[in-house]
Amino acid sequence: MKKIHVAPLGKCRASVNVQGDKSISHRAVIIGSIAKGVTRVSNFLEASDTLNTVKVYTALGVKIEKKKDEYLIYGNGLYSLNQPAGQLYVGNSGTDIRLSLGVLAAQHFTSVITGDNQIVKRPMARVMEPLSAMGAKFESRGGKAPITVHGQTLKGIKYRLPMASAQVKSAIILAALHANGETVITEPVKSRDHTERMLEYFGARISVKDKTVTIKPGKELSAKPVFVPGDISSAAYFIIAGLMVKNSRISVKDIGLNPTRVGLIEVMKKMGAKIDIRNLKVKNGEPVGDIVVKTSKLKGTVIKGGMIPKLIDEIPVIAVAAAFAKGKTVIMNAEELRYKETDRIETVVKNLKLIGVRASATSDGMVIEGNNGTPFKYASIDSFGDHRIAMAFSVAALSGENGMLIKDIECVDTSFPKFYEIIGSLR
Ligand code: S3P
Repeated sequence: MKKIHVAPLGKCRASVNVQGDKSISHRAVIIGSIAKGVTRVSNFLEASDTLNTVKVYTALGVKIEKKKDEYLIYGNGLYSLNQPAGQLYVGNSGTDIRLSLGVLAAQHFTSVITGDNQIVKRPMARVMEPLSAMGAKFESRGGKAPITVHGQTLKGIKYRLPMASAQVKSAIILAALHANGETVITEPVKSRDHTERMLEYFGARISVKDKTVTIKPGKELSAKPVFVPGDISSAAYFIIAGLMVKNSRISVKDIGLNPTRVGLIEVMKKMGAKIDIRNLKVKNGEPVGDIVVKTSKLKGTVIKGGMIPKLIDEIPVIAVAAAFAKGKTVIMNAEELRYKETDRIETVVKNLKLIGVRASATSDGMVIEGNNGTPFKYASIDSFGDHRIAMAFSVAALSGENGMLIKDIECVDTSFPKFYEIIGSLR
């Protein structure tokens, strides 16, 4: 297991380019694979999660190649996928397995999909239930991967999601493209809408009104060039580092600023952060811009309700910022954290305690007593194989008395292989 000592950082002036957005990279491969024509993807995230998606769709008979800096996906339209020779393997990727279940459910062949030791523990019934209502046939043990998918002719449904989940919503949308009749999906709180935006851009008959998505099937998608913006979930580490480390100014360039993803910026502003957005533009239906932050005095806050899906993946690093702030931060309505790569309520609170922060877990969130800028204690931090825990506590180490030892850091490759290279370049 690889480990790294992350030393404290005194001052930082840097301009950083983070890697491409993970959610959009997955969708470019999946949607490109069922579209007609060549989808050219630039700034594709080359990380193990998204490269596993490339492998899955290659195994389903789609030609995908890298040419210069672009990934080219030669889609042949709906129903053009072929039965794979072996099991489909998603590695650590929840997005890959859940979205692909929606696609596979509608194919006229049987396939088996599975992943690594974290994936086989994560809940998949949340996807299989609505897809089964559409006529899909699955076999699994206790609603967990490996899952055998017997492709069927599907019918449209009206479905109300019990939780805000972009992965579940997207699985149903992808299945609905292949179904007989219209599908209407309503979420309790709006989750990220990259699938809806990309499908609209590719010419699907999809409409969105507030928290309801309607899909009318029967129309082929046409390939379009996709620029993948920088991942705001990866930028988050450098945004928080810039806010916490003394005398700093960090800018992160060309970041996706989809309104369903910018909760981090909204919450950090409420906590007193000096954040500016510059060079706003729209690329393939997604807003993109630069984010500039300066060292700020942060104060505690309450994070709850409709805000949670807009920053769900950033909560580990927001918790680190809250631990450095003045006063108490309460995070609630975030039970979904318990179903991520690790139970992030437990893994965050455990590590915060190790670095000298008073924090406690609640059933659906956590309470953090900020230390008002006192450097964190040195600790040996276990990532528990969760990329976002490794990266969040690496940011904490930059504001530690003596840095920190971060253990089990291979997992960072799932979403941000260049993370430690960029951390090194800040010095
Ligand atoms: C994702 C959706 C989110 C997020 C995950 C990526 C996606 O999960 O946590 O990292 O690409 O659709 P939910 O399905 O809980 O929204």
